[in-house]
Amino acid sequence: MSESTSATRGSAGGQSGKRGLWSSRLAFILAATGSAVGLGNIWKFPYITGENGGGAFVLVYLLCIAAVGLPIMMAEVMIGRRGGNSPVKSIRNITQAEGLNPGWRLVAAIGVLAAFLILSFYSVIGGWAISYVGTAASGALTNQDADAIGAIFSGLLASPGTLLLWHSVFMALVMFVVARGVRSGLEKAVSILMPALFVLLLVVVGYAMTTGHFGEAVSFLFQPDFSKLTTKGVLVALGHAFFTLSLGMAVMVAYGSYLPKGISIAKTSILVSIMDTVVALLAGLAIFPIVFANGLEPGAGPGLIFQTLPLAFGQMPMGSLFGTLFFVLLIFAAWTSGISLLEPLVEWLEEQKGMTRRTSTLAAGLSCWLLGIASILSLNLWADVTPLGMFSMFEGKTIFDLLDFLTANILLPLGGLLIAVFTGWFMSRQALENELALSSGSFSLWYNTLRYFTPIAVAIVFVYNLI
Ligand code: PHE
Repeated sequence: MSESTSATRGSAGGQSGKRGLWSSRLAFILAATGSAVGLGNIWKFPYITGENGGGAFVLVYLLCIAAVGLPIMMAEVMIGRRGGNSPVKSIRNITQAEGLNPGWRLVAAIGVLAAFLILSFYSVIGGWAISYVGTAASGALTNQDADAIGAIFSGLLASPGTLLLWHSVFMALVMFVVARGVRSGLEKAVSILMPALFVLLLVVVGYAMTTGHFGEAVSFLFQPDFSKLTTKGVLVALGHAFFTLSLGMAVMVAYGSYLPKGISIAKTSILVSIMDTVVALLAGLAIFPIVFANGLEPGAGPGLIFQTLPLAFGQMPMGSLFGTLFFVLLIFAAWTSGISLLEPLVEWLEEQKGMTRRTSTLAAGLSCWLLGIASILSLNLWADVTPLGMFSMFEGKTIFDLLDFLTANILLPLGGLLIAVFTGWFMSRQALENELALSSGSFSLWYNTLRYFTPIAVAIVFVYNLI
């Protein structure tokens, strides 16, 4: 941590010298990118793109990233840096400094809760990826047909013990890094993991180029056919922009609180958004040539990676090697996102309960791990348990489905909407101008987008998801 950067300029709370800051702008960019790039990019983006017909959906998604995601990311990072503490305390610091209702800190509380709930099942999916490294490396995928590959996947889901083992390993990996704190843990981990991720992804794209179906994949992804775009597709794209940029969850507030003063929030947020988008598109370019080369269905749904890709890996030369690399890559991506999902709660426990970082990591991680067990069981033994099934909205939803629904479709848009309203309508314009230090034209563009466009767009997603 540098002495000079902890001297604050008009900060509401002040980044206290004890907390430690990112050592450089690059470190923040790596960490924020590590959070943004995850299962959302590599697993979810390709399959929702496949389901929604390709090009036109991708175009709308890109617009959503630029016009909704980016302004909110800037707002979140700004709140974190200005408040200089955990998300909850950062917002309280700002409300105190500006004479606003302290109840706004509940926005951060929603985010901390959402992050905690997401991590509980994110870790289970991260566990699937770990399990597939072994499956791919052992050669078990080689020359198998679709039924056999499907059986491997359903066999995994049907086995609570195996799922629990890999869920535990994933959570332990996350806790290990978070417990070591920002400088020695997070920062070091992401500065190794992120570049490795890029390289591994390029390796798979390189292979995909040799399949002879690369051109087909490129036109699928980048030639918009608006007849394939539905209203629902637009809304899916908007919602995914949130998830993939780690927004609405206080995660970027938490990371922003470690960002030294004097570093441009706009430039860094733009860079992070671009890198997140590039990884998603690279994932598409890696996956779709393989899908087309093997005559597979782009709209196969959530099983695309775990059921369809192993089939392709099993058929290609050196498939065991590429398959193993691919799932290692997926673990890296999920790991750095998992770290960012645990961080807000750990910060909060440190501050509010006066726990040491180790204790708070242990408390938060173990509770999350416990909750994850419910998700594991809902894939097999509790497959018929639908706790809120009496409400039509939640009909047929297992615990796993409920957690996903509650976070992605309710808490996350709500958190993002409130962040936009808090920043755009309540915080003083002067404070925002100071913190962002933009030219007046760029500032107005950001400010008006956040005040008008963003809340309306997000409200549409939110309402849509409720009905
Ligand atoms: N952005 C991550 C992904 O795309 C998921 C995530 C969401 C991580 C929210 C942190 C916070 O997989």
